[in-house]
Amino acid sequence: MAYINENYLKLQAGYLFPEIGRRVNEFSKANPNAASRLIRCGIGDVTEPLPKACIEALHSAVDEMDNRDTFRGYGPEAGYDFLREAIAENDFAKRGVNINADEIFVSDGAKCDTANILDILGHQNKIAITDPVYPVYLDTNVMAGHTGRANSEGQYEGITYLPCTAENQFVPALPAEKADIIYLCYPNNPTGATATKEQLTNWVTYAKQNNALILFDAAYEAFIQDNDVPHSIYEIEGARECAIEFRSFSKNAGFTGTRCAFTIVPKELTGRDSEGAEHSLHSLWSRRMATKFNGASYPIQKAAAAVYSDNGKAQINKLIEHYMGNAAILIEASSASGLSVYGGINAPYIWVKTPNDTPSWDIFDKVLNEASVVITPGAGFGAAGEGYFRISAFNSRTNAEEVAKRISEINW
Ligand code: MLT
Repeated sequence: MAYINENYLKLQAGYLFPEIGRRVNEFSKANPNAASRLIRCGIGDVTEPLPKACIEALHSAVDEMDNRDTFRGYGPEAGYDFLREAIAENDFAKRGVNINADEIFVSDGAKCDTANILDILGHQNKIAITDPVYPVYLDTNVMAGHTGRANSEGQYEGITYLPCTAENQFVPALPAEKADIIYLCYPNNPTGATATKEQLTNWVTYAKQNNALILFDAAYEAFIQDNDVPHSIYEIEGARECAIEFRSFSKNAGFTGTRCAFTIVPKELTGRDSEGAEHSLHSLWSRRMATKFNGASYPIQKAAAAVYSDNGKAQINKLIEHYMGNAAILIEASSASGLSVYGGINAPYIWVKTPNDTPSWDIFDKVLNEASVVITPGAGFGAAGEGYFRISAFNSRTNAEEVAKRISEINW
């Protein structure tokens, strides 16, 4: 019998979203009538069709695959130049940020990239993670053996937790102890908070002073409405020397089922070996991609590149407007019900304080039973998420309005 990776035994219960799915299935079986009116505001999964520009690009790329002259087999592991150049130009150069196309690695998802990045990082690193947090960052460190066991609050030995609370506007203070790797996500999942230029500058300064690496997840940058909120960590001077950034087409262009994302690894970035010699992280990540990945599919990369066409940009703006319109409706209903509400202004997530500090899984059950609405319990994002729940604004307008109505009918 083969030995297993025993680090997996340290993980708690199931991954959050399948666990929610399991509870919702149980509820649906037991309450078939209520199940027929179920509305899901749990996982942040998009509901609206892909932009027309992406659909057209997909169709035409599929036709290319039907012709010997235009057919494509294996593509470049880091992505086609047409997509990498479109990203460098539109997402970075147009904002005054210098990212070269060959520093962009196209993949099939930011979730996988934020997990896979650990392949090139050592086991000696001291990891700092915000709390609450997108569970992938933490669980993949547990799987990789970077932690001890979890305590009764679900916090793992060996991890530095950075509490994000209403008091600090969900942007953590710098850690007192030295961290080698810091995970940051802004606009934030799950709290919907944003970090200011000044706050990100503090983190970049900390990282440079401590020779630390920031893993910056910017999957929700397209939802930023305020002009002064940074879209990329590279808007901060010095970030090229201390940060890797993860981006996704999932939320802005609705690619959750289509799968395309990218990771930026600037050429200046280095890490050290156990003897102190410096090595390029760009080279290591290139090596990792070339060995373990054969590139995202050609039609999907064509569809992603269409995001940057004039039509694509206009259609994406409409999608963002739609989801942020839902967010406004949900914020209004929750506030009118006397709940304390955060986020939802520059992000598609609304973070709500549970009334009277009710445990968040109890609120999950209450909202499911009384309103047939699925929300995400804050405890699923970490100990500091307890006492909160998250409502996702990814929905049809009709559903968002119906959820707003049901929220106002709940006896909180
Ligand atoms: C979420 O609901 O937190 C996200 O949809 C999960 C993800 O992007 O993987």
